[in-house]
Amino acid sequence: MRVEVALGPGEWATAELDGRTAVVLDVLRATTTVTTALFNGAAAVVPFADLEECRAYKKIEPDVLLGGEREGVRPPGFDLGNSPLEYTPEKVAGRRIAYTTTNGTRALAACRGAEEVLLGALVNRRAVAERLAAGHRDATLVCAGKRGGSNLEDTYCAGAIIDSMESLAADGVDLSDRALIVLALFRAPDAGAVLERCEHGRALVGLGFSDDVAYCGRMDVVGTVGVLENGEIRAAR
Ligand code: MLT
Repeated sequence: MRVEVALGPGEWATAELDGRTAVVLDVLRATTTVTTALFNGAAAVVPFADLEECRAYKKIEPDVLLGGEREGVRPPGFDLGNSPLEYTPEKVAGRRIAYTTTNGTRALAACRGAEEVLLGALVNRRAVAERLAAGHRDATLVCAGKRGGSNLEDTYCAGAIIDSMESLAADGVDLSDRALIVLALFRAPDAGAVLERCEHGRALVGLGFSDDVAYCGRMDVVGTVGVLENGEIRAAR
């Protein structure tokens, strides 16, 4: 099984997706939030790259909740922001959520050409690695990144997933140079407290979301993996 990594938006267009499983990573916070919403019983999350398209969808489907962010905070008229801690069973169980964020939902849209699209984060990294190892399909880990480039938290998460895959895949994993780079980052002895140290983590703390940063950094605490199919993200069976 070959594993490749797209480190940020500048690499989405040339990422190898055909016939592959793409795993979208936006640790702070989109893929952590969607994974948590599904774990807490949301029926589906419908991603939109565009804010106005997301609002327009609610006019067609008035029962959906609107969730997401711009500049890190809940857009006017939305039911939920982008804090994973808001997506509690009381609020989301059984509900469909129309969802838009600055980078994460764009990364999802960029993966249309893949055979299968999964959502990965630190909270579910072992569950993602298990699914990839069991599927035996070549995989591309697609980092949402930041402002056109790479970011520390998604790069670290890609390395965390590969670290777990290496111990699970019976026939081994064939790693590209980028995959080896992210794995080396994850295994570096001083790689701790990544979410507190990275730029976006510090910005979120400044906005009052330090509990989100702590939660998003918890590893292997959720067994749910979101799968994007027919424009909706649902928990994998
Ligand atoms: C994004 O998609 O850009 C992020 O999820 C932003 C955020 O932390 O809210």
